[in-house]
Amino acid sequence: MGVGMDDLENLRAGVLKHISKVSDEGELENLRLRFLGKKGEISLKMRELGSMNPEQKMTYGPLLNSLKDEINSALIAKKTAFQDTALDERLRTEWLDVTLPGRVRGEGTIHPVSQVTDEVTEIFADMGFLVAEGPQIESDWYNFDALNIPSHHPARGEMDTFYMKHPKNSNEPPHVLRTHTSPVQIRTMQASGAPIKVICPGRVYRADYDQTHTPMFHQVEGLALDKDITMANLKWVLEEFVRAFFEVDEVELRFRASHFPFTEPSAEVDIRCSWSGGQLKVGEGDDWLEILGSGMVHPNVLKAGGIDPEKWQGFAFGMGIDRIAMLKYGIPDLRSFFDSDLRWLKHYGFAALDQPILSTGLSK
Ligand code: PHE
Repeated sequence: MGVGMDDLENLRAGVLKHISKVSDEGELENLRLRFLGKKGEISLKMRELGSMNPEQKMTYGPLLNSLKDEINSALIAKKTAFQDTALDERLRTEWLDVTLPGRVRGEGTIHPVSQVTDEVTEIFADMGFLVAEGPQIESDWYNFDALNIPSHHPARGEMDTFYMKHPKNSNEPPHVLRTHTSPVQIRTMQASGAPIKVICPGRVYRADYDQTHTPMFHQVEGLALDKDITMANLKWVLEEFVRAFFEVDEVELRFRASHFPFTEPSAEVDIRCSWSGGQLKVGEGDDWLEILGSGMVHPNVLKAGGIDPEKWQGFAFGMGIDRIAMLKYGIPDLRSFFDSDLRWLKHYGFAALDQPILSTGLSK
């Protein structure tokens, strides 16, 4: 028979010696194939069991099996040793300074004008107002005539209008950079007819520059037309707005008689406030703060928008977005809004996920 006790002992000693001398994982794998592979030495010996008599099988079977297990364990132990050494080596050579600052990704902020525009939009949306927009370069007609401001009207001069270049061979007056968002009233009337409930936020332009004026600024227009809308509705809507926007329960509005060509009657609206300690508090104190112009839409304006003033009536208002942003967030100089100074933007800007969640808590 090809198997003897001594044979096995020699085989065992040889194999273990080989394994102990191996110098890398590749060689180890070769050894594994050589002894335990399908045609490996141990496997061949196993096969020889088949031709043995039962007695021999009883003796050699278990011996061979335990030899196989022993070799297997030796291979695994060696392999683990290689891996441990490799890891040790990596740990020794590679290193990471965990005290280094991370790579910060530059994160922008939301400009207060954008934030306040979103807040205003949200509050009026809660009251059922849609958002409408119009062009910033506007025709003379939409910016003035349609709003009941004929060419000789003094309001034209007061608006400090920027005029576009006059087109050659044209009798038309030059276009203008719109001086207010009111032309969007006309465009909305023409586009959708009455009834209407919209707000129109956007950029407007006037040649003016000081602490509270910049040549470009932002307004939001409001327009509500229906069969029976009155100044009382205007007052309620504005009160709800101020309450939600300034996040106060009590507000007091004062309607001051005024004049706009496109509304009759017209009123400027002030809110009660205090400035004690240089800090604005809305709803208390003895000061009044002007926040917007408003009134009942003039019949001529309705007509210009293609709406029958005998059937429909309503209110309009125009409010400075930058102005109410300055008030709400305590920003002292309007010009700083448009300087693009990163320090300012970081200080007054809002996180991208800082969604306005103002609720009007509409009174029933
Ligand atoms: N358009 C006016 C302005 O720019 C504001 C306003 C709008 C007043 C609507 C009354 C009604 O000052």
